[in-house]
Amino acid sequence: MLAFGVLAFTEAGRLQEDFYCQSCPLAEEIIKNLTWEHVKANPTVPARLLRLHFHDCFVRGCDGSILLNSTANNTAEKAATPNLTLLGFDVIDDIKEKVEEACPGVVSCADILALAARDSVSFQYKRNLWKVYTGRRDGTISRASEVSGNIPSSVSNFTVLKQNFAKKGLDVLDLVVLSGGHTIGVGHCDAFSKRLYNFTGKGDQDPSLDPSYAAFLKTQCKSLSDNTTIVAMDPGSALNFDNHYYVTLEQHKGLFQSDAALLTNEDARNIVQEFLTSSTFFGQFAESMVKMGDIEVLTGEQGQIREHCAFVNFLSSY
Ligand code: HEM
Ligand SMILES: *[C@@H]1O[C@H](CO)[C@@H](O)[C@H](O)[C@H]1NC(C)=O
Ligand SMILES: *[C@@H]1O[C@H](CO)[C@@H](O)[C@H](O)[C@H]1NC(C)=O
Ligand SMILES: *[C@@H]1O[C@H](CO)[C@@H](O)[C@H](O)[C@H]1NC(C)=O
Ligand SMILES: *[C@@H]1O[C@H](CO)[C@@H](O)[C@H](O)[C@H]1NC(C)=O
Ligand SMILES: *[C@@H]1O[C@H](CO)[C@@H](O)[C@H](O)[C@H]1NC(C)=O
Ligand SMILES: *[C@@H]1O[C@H](CO)[C@@H](O)[C@H](O)[C@H]1NC(C)=O
Ligand SMILES: *[C@@H]1O[C@H](CO)[C@@H](O)[C@H](O)[C@H]1NC(C)=O
Repeated sequence: MLAFGVLAFTEAGRLQEDFYCQSCPLAEEIIKNLTWEHVKANPTVPARLLRLHFHDCFVRGCDGSILLNSTANNTAEKAATPNLTLLGFDVIDDIKEKVEEACPGVVSCADILALAARDSVSFQYKRNLWKVYTGRRDGTISRASEVSGNIPSSVSNFTVLKQNFAKKGLDVLDLVVLSGGHTIGVGHCDAFSKRLYNFTGKGDQDPSLDPSYAAFLKTQCKSLSDNTTIVAMDPGSALNFDNHYYVTLEQHKGLFQSDAALLTNEDARNIVQEFLTSSTFFGQFAESMVKMGDIEVLTGEQGQIREHCAFVNFLSSY
């Protein structure tokens, strides 16, 4: 107990490798096994969890606040998502339930999300693509109003993207490599259809989008108001976590304006070039994911370990 107390004290404020090795030795293995089961059943799970982890970290730090449900008195981050179309909450809730059975009240939802995001994306390679340090605590506050100022939008230009990342201690290299997360998953038509039908309000098309690709996208997204159809962000390779996003981007087939924006800055453009080499991409992605997973984390005695990821513990201070 004393040794643990001293360790917790000296390491307060910092995440550690295998934080639960004493308190819940099987935690990481349980999380990995369950995550892999979910991916086997549904290959879109990696994209969902990776994006969920990104959104968690960018609003109030990686504290699981994205997982909280709204209450009678509070509109949570999640509720800003009819627009944002986040999915995967059910997977995290399921994993949390099983982890609680093994070690009640020990493993945070924020750590489960960070680990499950890594494990789900890594599934296709059967080895960990990046390190996840643990010891995050769960936040008790989640506000829909804090989402738009922190999460860049699909129409953000380079200046805005750079500023958004800088606010989180991330630089242009991090921005370009983490945007590579768009090598998996989908976007809804309304996140980019202005580029097809009404780019400057004159019924025009975004000239920076490859015209034949735009023609293809128009066969998918039939009008500006289509908010239900989904399109792969990295067509032909949308379930495959690789560096193909940068190939697509170079061909001016990046789906969102925020993707295309990476070609509008010379530094960013040079970095895009570097990631056309696969090993460079994987190495830097791993480094930047560790940085992202460390944003404004709660540790030590801060926050709490939620019993259910969608709710702040009963009797805790709000
Ligand atoms: C650079 C700023 C970013 C912007 C503006 C952005 C924007 C978006 C948008 C608009 C979507 C589509 C949502 C929809 O219509 O369904 C999306 C999906 C996605 N984003 Fe990002 N994103 C950014 C950064 C990131 C980062 C850093 C990651 C993770 C490392 C990430 C991972 C994903 C994934 C995996 C999806 C697909 C989700 C799914 O298929 O369910 N994004 N993003
Ligand atoms: C995880 O899966 C492996 C391989 O199927 C199995 O050997 C191991 O016992 C499982 N661990 C837990 C904690 O369920
Ligand atoms: C929390 O909210 C999600 C959707 O935002 C909903 O699907 C889920 O049922 C809610 N959880 C509980 C336990 O009410
Ligand atoms: C909502 O706020 C009221 C008044 O402050 C309080 O009595 C009630 O317990 C709160 N409800 C929840 C679910 O937090
Ligand atoms: C949805 O997105 C649009 C455009 O980004 C924004 O103007 C609107 O306020 C958002 N709606 C919600 C409910 O967040
Ligand atoms: C980028 O977008 C912001 C916010 O919409 C705008 O104020 C700014 O002028 C834009 N910058 C450039 C270079 O277009
Ligand atoms: C295109 O944009 C302009 C300016 O915002 C708007 O007046 C017009 O209604 C839009 N066209 C369509 C088809 O929505
Ligand atoms: C899609 O658009 C319809 C019609 O404008 C609207 O009622 C609905 O709420 C929108 N759905 C989403 C998920 O934004």
